[in-house]
Amino acid sequence: MTPYYDIDICHFTADMRHVELLDQTLLPTEERYIRVSNAEEMAESISKLQVRGAPLIGIAAAMGLAIDLRQSAPQNIDDFWTCFTHARKILADSRPTAVNLVWALSRIEQNLRASKCSSVAEMIEALFAEANLIKAEDVESCGKIGTYGKDLIKDGMGVLTHCNAGHLATGRYGTALSPIYFAHKEGKQFHVYADETRPLLQGARLTAFELQRSGIDVMLLCDNMAASLMAQGKIQLVLVGCDRVAANGDTANKIGTLSVALAAHHYGIPFYVCGPMSTFDRHCLTGEDIIIEQRAPSEVTEMWYASRMAPQGCKVYNPAFDVTPHNLITGYITEKGIRYGNDKTK
Ligand code: MRU
Repeated sequence: MTPYYDIDICHFTADMRHVELLDQTLLPTEERYIRVSNAEEMAESISKLQVRGAPLIGIAAAMGLAIDLRQSAPQNIDDFWTCFTHARKILADSRPTAVNLVWALSRIEQNLRASKCSSVAEMIEALFAEANLIKAEDVESCGKIGTYGKDLIKDGMGVLTHCNAGHLATGRYGTALSPIYFAHKEGKQFHVYADETRPLLQGARLTAFELQRSGIDVMLLCDNMAASLMAQGKIQLVLVGCDRVAANGDTANKIGTLSVALAAHHYGIPFYVCGPMSTFDRHCLTGEDIIIEQRAPSEVTEMWYASRMAPQGCKVYNPAFDVTPHNLITGYITEKGIRYGNDKTK
C-alpha cells in the first residue's frame, strides 16, 4: 500500500502561475484538486479550510504570495512593494491563531529586503524559491519529528491523537502523525485512536482517512469518549499538533485538546505536543497572548447534518482552538529533538 504521505497535496502548477491544492473540505468522499491564482483566492481557501493545518497554511500563504506577484505583473520595484504589501495583508488576515502563516510571510519579506535582487523579475523568482524552500524545510522538519518521536511508540501501545496534525496539515508526514508513520515503517504493532474533532471533524474526515490509506490500524471515536478509553487503560500515549506555542510552553491547538490533556494528566498518560520550530512564538509570552479564532455558528448547528440540529437563533460558542497550559504537557517533539516540559506527574 502506498502511504498517503507520498502524495503531494500543495504545489505550484508546471507553468508556475497557479497553486494546486487538495480541497480538504471534500474529504474523505472526494479527492479533488483546486487551482488558486492569487492572494485573495488563497486567503479564501485558507479561511474556508480547503487548505489547513498550521505548517501547511504557512506554505500555502508563501505560494499564494508568489503567484499573486506574478499575476499582478508590477512595472517597477516601488510597484512591486505596493502589490506585495497588499497581498501580504490579505494572506496574513486569513486566519489568526496559527503563527506559521505570519512567520512565513515575515520571513519572505525579511529575506527579500536583504537580498541583492535588482529587478522585479528577480524578486518574483526569489518569492517562488523561498516558498519552495519553506515547503522543503517543513518536509525535513516533519521527518525529524517522526524520527525523534517514533521511539516513544512501543509494541502494543494505544496512541491517541486529536484533530489532524498529519500529512494533510504539513509539507509531508505531519507533526503528531509523523512518529506514527515512522514507527509503522519500523514494523511496530500499535493502535491509533483518532478523536473525531467536533465541529469540523478533522479527526474523522482527515486523520482516519490518511492513516487508513497508509495501512495503519486506526479507530475513530467521538471526542467525549477519549476519557473512558483512558480509564480502561487503552491509551498509553497522546500525540497532538500545535498552532502556536508561547514562550512559556502554553500551547494553542484544535478545540478539545485541553480536555484531552486534562484527562491524560488525571490518568498519568504522557501527553506530547509535536511541531516544527516555526510554530514556536517567542514574542507571545503565555497562552493568554494567543488570539483564538472564533468561527461561524453554522459549523456547530448545521454543517455535516442532514438538517439543522439546534433551534434557530440559538447562541453558539465556536472557538477553533484552545490553550493547554504548559504544566499539562510532558514534552515537545520538534526537529531539534524532544524537550521535556513541566508536567511533574510524568
Ligand atoms: O483548524 P485546523 O484544521 O487548521 O486546525 C489544525 C490543528 O489544530 C492542528 O493540530 C495544528 O494546526 C497542527 S497541524 C500539524
